[in-house]
Amino acid sequence: MRILIVDDEAVQRELLGGFLKKQGCSVIEAASGQEAIERFLQQPVDLVLLDHKMPDLMGDEVLTRIKEINPLTRVIMITAFGAVETAVRVMQLGADDFMEKPIDLETLLTKIRSIEDALFINEDVAQVEESIDANNLPVRMIATSTAMQQVLSLALRAAPSPWTVLIHGETGTGKDLIARLIHQLSPRNDKPFIPLNCAAVPEGLFESELFGHEKGAFTGAANRRRGVFEQANQGTLFLDEVGELPLAVQAKLLRALQEKTITRVGGEQQLPVDVRIVAATNRDLKAMSAEGNFREDLYFRLNVITIDIPPLRQRKEDIPALIEFLLAKYQSDARFDDQALHQLTKYHFPGNIRELEHILQRTVTLSRSPQIGLRDLPPEIRDYHGPESENGDLNQKLAEIERQMLMDALEKNDGVQTRAAQSLGISERVLRYKMEKLGINRNLT
Ligand SMILES: Nc1ncnc2c1ncn2[C@@H]1O[C@H](COP(=O)(O)OP(=O)(O)OP(=O)(O)O)[C@@H](O)[C@H]1O
Ligand SMILES: [Mg+2]
Repeated sequence: MRILIVDDEAVQRELLGGFLKKQGCSVIEAASGQEAIERFLQQPVDLVLLDHKMPDLMGDEVLTRIKEINPLTRVIMITAFGAVETAVRVMQLGADDFMEKPIDLETLLTKIRSIEDALFINEDVAQVEESIDANNLPVRMIATSTAMQQVLSLALRAAPSPWTVLIHGETGTGKDLIARLIHQLSPRNDKPFIPLNCAAVPEGLFESELFGHEKGAFTGAANRRRGVFEQANQGTLFLDEVGELPLAVQAKLLRALQEKTITRVGGEQQLPVDVRIVAATNRDLKAMSAEGNFREDLYFRLNVITIDIPPLRQRKEDIPALIEFLLAKYQSDARFDDQALHQLTKYHFPGNIRELEHILQRTVTLSRSPQIGLRDLPPEIRDYHGPESENGDLNQKLAEIERQMLMDALEKNDGVQTRAAQSLGISERVLRYKMEKLGINRNLT
């Protein structure tokens, strides 16, 4: 269990930290509210022990912020002895528990053990769900690979919760499908699922698309119109391609999400709305927010639970089942012979499953017999020889691998170079040199 101890008194931190380390916990310390938030953003934390009384940010604010960033993190607030009102208030603010000073270590341990049990159950559930039967889902889809089983397991756990889910994946990987699945498995499944493709809305019309408008609000607004927030009331609003939202609109969206109310364009009244947000993007929102192209606060708001759908080339085990599934969908009796199947699994599918779907449609339509062989495949696949032959140069190949490893290490460590270097077994200086050489942008991750 990873525990963040937040206290401005070093003695208190040492006492708690020393005790918890002996119990086998991994401990991170912060001496101020500000530092607590920084630490919290840097690495995953299961539990925060939060001193309520601190000079800079008060404990209350840290609590709110942590719960905003990740509502699943447990927080035990440490309050002054006998401060009943404080205890009541921190519970109202979303603390999971509170303890009075001086802290009784045995009681603390009992509380930690019970949180650990809960976490363990969650992991257990995840393991049971490793063998999710995709046939019994309300949305039909293939998930043969372990990677997709994990995606499903996460979606199944996220679905019943009220939290915002951010789905990330390349084009055609099934983001839309997962968004619908989450809605179908949520308690809101008898209420509307309203998708909004943020890439398709002209900038000037966003506000009206989202919040609606009153009659006569602007030229062309002949009638009152409900926006997607109102349409999705009590249901799910799917913000597709959310990375394409203009910054000005992001601010308005954030306000609506925070206040749970909207105002129609040209209207006065604040209307309460109750929507669950699922967002999807093929962009790296974290990098975008580092570059100032996406609001960081909105990113945190959307990113409560992230589902990363891997590209098809990283889960080739799915390809045979997908082919069967898609052929059945078109009621085709075509069969791919081994050679054709093999060549298909070699291909890198930049357009992922949608591309596979198009390839099948084309091949099946044009082929003269239901038995499909290598020569029936479209030329770009028939002639594909894999990435190897495109750059046979060993040095180039090694540089590519090195680059990938560096990027992975940086991403896993949230861009913290010290830790990335450590995980790669090289010094930070060497890491920086290599990043420079390989053209890896520091702000990228
Ligand atoms: N696991 C799967 N099993 C079966 N069909 C799938 C699966 N994943 C995706 N598909 C199909 O592939 C096509 C593309 O999927 P989808 O539209 O969900 O992708 P997307 O990630 O939203 O793409 P884009 O980024 O272009 O919007 C759809 O026809 C979908 O039904
Ligand atoms: Mg889509």
